[in-house]
Amino acid sequence: MKISGNTILITGGATGIGLGLTERFVKEGNKVIICGRRPEVLAEARQKFPSVLTKEVDLADEGQRIALFEWISTNHRELSVLINNAGIQQRLSISDEDFYAKAKREMAINIEAPIHLTSLFQKLENLRTVMNVTSGLAFVPMINAPVYCATKSFLHSFNSSLYKLLGKRGIEVIEIIPPGLNTDLGGKGLHDSFPPVSEFIETIFQQLAEGKTKLTFGMSAMMVKASQEEMENAFNRMNP
Ligand SMILES: NC(=O)c1ccc[n+]([C@@H]2O[C@H](COP(=O)([O-])OP(=O)(O)OC[C@H]3O[C@@H](n4cnc5c(N)ncnc54)[C@H](OP(=O)(O)O)[C@@H]3O)[C@@H](O)[C@H]2O)c1
Repeated sequence: MKISGNTILITGGATGIGLGLTERFVKEGNKVIICGRRPEVLAEARQKFPSVLTKEVDLADEGQRIALFEWISTNHRELSVLINNAGIQQRLSISDEDFYAKAKREMAINIEAPIHLTSLFQKLENLRTVMNVTSGLAFVPMINAPVYCATKSFLHSFNSSLYKLLGKRGIEVIEIIPPGLNTDLGGKGLHDSFPPVSEFIETIFQQLAEGKTKLTFGMSAMMVKASQEEMENAFNRMNP
C-alpha cells in the first residue's frame, strides 16, 4: 500500500496496537481518524497527536456503525484506508452462567463490526485498502478464550475471501496478525509479559513497504506457516 497521503480510519485507534498504528501513520504523513467508546481515552490520544480526529462510537451497535459511516462519507469522503482493529478478549468457560450473553458481545465487536464496516466503507469511491487485525490465536486457539479465538479464525477466513473479492476492484486487503503483545487487551496486566507494540509496529511497517499482505511478528510468523502437526503440538503446549 501507499504509506503516506491517505485518510485512514483506525477503529480502536486510541490504545494498544491501534495507538501504535495511529502514531506511525501520523508520522508517515496521513490524516488519521480514530474511534472508540471512551471519550477520555480518545482525548488523551488527541493530546499526543493533535492532528488526529476522534469519534466516540460503540461498534457493537449497528446503528452507531451506520452513523459513523454516514459522518465519514459526508465529512471525509476522501477516506482511502479502513483498519478494523477494535476488538475485545474475554476469558470464558462454556459452563459460565452468562457465557452466551458475553459470547454475543464478543462476536458483535470482533465479527459483526468489521464485516459491517467493510460492507459500508467499500462504497466509498476512494477506498484503496482494507486492513483486518486478526491474531496468532486464529490459527491455534487458547481454550480459556474460546469465543475470542473463534472470532479471529472467522475474521482470518473472511479476510481471505475479501482479498479476492475486493482485489478484483483494485482494493488491497491486508491481514495484520499480531502475536501476544503488551497491551491492556482482556484487562490490565494480562499481557504484561509480551513484547512491546513499538517493536511490532516497526516490523510490520517494513513488511508493508515490501508489499506484503499478511503482516506477522515473532510467534505469529511461525503460526501462519505451521503444518497441521505443528499446530496440534502448539495447541497441546498452550493448553496443557
Ligand atoms: N495485544 C495482543 O496480544 C493482541 C494479539 C493479537 C491480536 N490482537 C488484536 O489487536 C486489536 C487491538 O487490541 P489491543 O491489544 O491493542 O487491545 P486494546 O488496547 O484493548 O485495544 C482495543 C481497542 O478497541 C476499542 N474497542 C473495544 N470495543 C469497542 C467497541 N465496542 N466499540 C468501539 N471500540 C471498541 C477499545 O476502545 P474502547 O474500550 O474505548 O472502546 C480499544 O481502543 C484487537 O482486535 C485484538 O484482538 C491483540
